[in-house]
Amino acid sequence: MTETVGEILYNQEISAQIFELKIKVPDIASGARPGQFVSLYPEDKSRLLPRPISICDANDKTLRLVYRVAGLGTREFSGKKEGDSIRIVGPLGNGFPEAADHAGQKVVLFGGGIGIPPMRFAGEAYAAAGAQVTAVLGYRDRETFLSEEFTRFGEVMIATEDGSVGTKGNVLDAFRETQGEADLICACGPLPMLRALQQFSREKGIPCFLSLEEKMACALGACLGCVVKTVKEDAHSHVKNARVCKDGPVFSAEDIEF
Ligand SMILES: Cc1cc2nc3c(=O)[nH]c(=O)nc-3n(C[C@H](O)[C@H](O)[C@H](O)COP(=O)(O)OP(=O)(O)OC[C@H]3O[C@@H](n4cnc5c(N)ncnc54)[C@H](O)[C@@H]3O)c2cc1C
Ligand code: FES
Repeated sequence: MTETVGEILYNQEISAQIFELKIKVPDIASGARPGQFVSLYPEDKSRLLPRPISICDANDKTLRLVYRVAGLGTREFSGKKEGDSIRIVGPLGNGFPEAADHAGQKVVLFGGGIGIPPMRFAGEAYAAAGAQVTAVLGYRDRETFLSEEFTRFGEVMIATEDGSVGTKGNVLDAFRETQGEADLICACGPLPMLRALQQFSREKGIPCFLSLEEKMACALGACLGCVVKTVKEDAHSHVKNARVCKDGPVFSAEDIEF
């Protein structure tokens, strides 16, 4: 984990209030794994806490993030220009299961809304490792983003709430229109979607890993501001909870109590 200052290479709106941000930050980018995130610091000193954003893609030098303008911090980020700098900590968290362990398997990636970006990095890794990748992407309406890129990694299914693109309904509705088979499920998205996937994977007996989002303060495991309920007792603290920032954000669906 490194704290450093990155150089903005690119920051453009790619869909309504959704921005793609590329940061030159070799110390962090070179060690990044799918499912991990970084914390970005706003410059405005009245906003002290860093904002956690998932890694959408990374190479040796550059991180690519996709974020939605949600409040004051992300609004500040949206005004960044090429050549500006940004304070950044990462890579943080654990990440999705190692891709090499799933070569030849059917890996189904579910992404809902702003939970889609981390699934892009995962899709690339699983496809490169020789998995048969299916991406099931859920959007509110025809304002889709990143979906084209997933076609490089395998089959892509789209669900929209208003039915303007793909299946009308949610990601599980779209997936159920197929055989619904998978050896491994990975997902990131809104809580109702993750809850439904936990139930679905239990019924089908499919290993399932969910990337959770919780409000964070330190993002380093120190403040306990981001705990979620778990099934198992933590060996250290003897309580049934885990920190999303340090023990996650990716958890086995079997271990989490929603
Ligand atoms: C592990 C993880 C990965 C994430 N990945 C992405 C991503 O790839 N793209 C994206 O658009 N968003 C992502 N988010 C959500 C993003 O962190 C929030 O939208 C962002 O922090 C909002 O900051 P703000 O200042 O604009 O909003 P404000 O509402 O003004 O934020 C106030 C405070 O609450 C915290 N906060 C508010 N909402 C969230 C939230 N949903 N999660 C965590 N902290 C929050 C902020 O960090 C800040 O400290 C992720 C969150 C987590 C926990
Ligand atoms: S945000 Fe502080 S422990 Fe997770």
